[in-house]
Amino acid sequence: MKFLTQFLSLALLTGCVVMTSCSSNKETAEQKPGIEKTVYGQLPNGQTADLYKLHNAAGMTAQITNYGGIIVGLTAPDRNGKFEDVTLGMDSLAGYVKGTPYFGALVGRYGNRIAKGKFTLDGKTYTLAVNNMVNHLHGGLVGFDKVLWNATPVEGDEPALKLTYTSKDGEEGYPGNLSVEVTYTLQKDNALRIDYLATTDKPTVVNLTNHTYFNLTGGAKRDVLDHVLTLNSGNLVPVDNTLIPTGKLMPVAGTPFDFTQPTPIGKRINDSTDTQIKYGLGYDHAWVLDGTGDSLKLAATVFEPTSGRVMEVRTTEPAVQFYTGNFLDGTVTGREGFPYKKRYALCLETEHYPDSPNQPNFPSTVLRPGQTYKSSTVYQFSTRKE
Ligand code: GLA
Repeated sequence: MKFLTQFLSLALLTGCVVMTSCSSNKETAEQKPGIEKTVYGQLPNGQTADLYKLHNAAGMTAQITNYGGIIVGLTAPDRNGKFEDVTLGMDSLAGYVKGTPYFGALVGRYGNRIAKGKFTLDGKTYTLAVNNMVNHLHGGLVGFDKVLWNATPVEGDEPALKLTYTSKDGEEGYPGNLSVEVTYTLQKDNALRIDYLATTDKPTVVNLTNHTYFNLTGGAKRDVLDHVLTLNSGNLVPVDNTLIPTGKLMPVAGTPFDFTQPTPIGKRINDSTDTQIKYGLGYDHAWVLDGTGDSLKLAATVFEPTSGRVMEVRTTEPAVQFYTGNFLDGTVTGREGFPYKKRYALCLETEHYPDSPNQPNFPSTVLRPGQTYKSSTVYQFSTRKE
């Protein structure tokens, strides 16, 4: 009897029901931060790609495959605490292999464009693949988004996935064996942090980024034109009609590129009187971030009024390419067969300026033996009432 009384009072104290599963404990178990690995599928060359599901104590999840380091899914709560996916993505590995416009992918060696696929370094000219009109884009034909990375899960309060890849001397035309390490960390405070490191054995150029397409409505319910954007930038990197920088910077004041104050993305996106808008078919430009130094600085804030979701982007990079999915046309069908249409997402690709290898006045993207390329970006989610 004494035994039973003690047992019952213990059960009451912990809120458990005798002989059935304890719901509060179950919730605690589900909320325990961690990382699970499953087989994602087979690549055409027979290699196996894995899927890693990171989850934090707050309930946020990030699903990442070691094929292309792709973020396959990322959930964030709305103002009522409902978790939904805030990215565009595919249902299966086959979907990614078939081809997407870099959904969720790691991009390298050079995120963005290099004019005519050529650059000269230490007097030697290198020729890269031309895969975007007359230019080189996002690392070439088989960029870092299409290779299998080695993956190491790192358990902890803030679960992480460390990905490594060695890009061979001459791969896609770039000089030097480049050792790359990218770590995704799902932080306690509903932030996904990406840390990039690289070293080389010959002088080369590096500009790594991630190409996630965000739609904060959750489940990509509609286009992103009502998302409200703030960019910490007073200057744009204007481009020519092939989206290669002119070499000058352009103050954003008084133009459709001024996001220094919170502004709906759709407000000026179709301003056909603006040459830069015409060239980009909307927004597809690099903004120079204000502030200097190697520490993380606020680059962008995005607010989606109906869900209340807010995303803040912090980076150590000097620029951010803001792209509004202008080339999406509904031909790529994503999760659950959903056609991703024009402007159904936005990308905030933190990086150095486009075509820096050919622009002596831009911050340098050259990496030499003995140096370590370091870059970090944090995408943090929260909510606001209005
Ligand atoms: C980047 C480019 C765009 C487009 C997308 C992928 O954001 O700047 O022009 O190529 O990648 O479709």
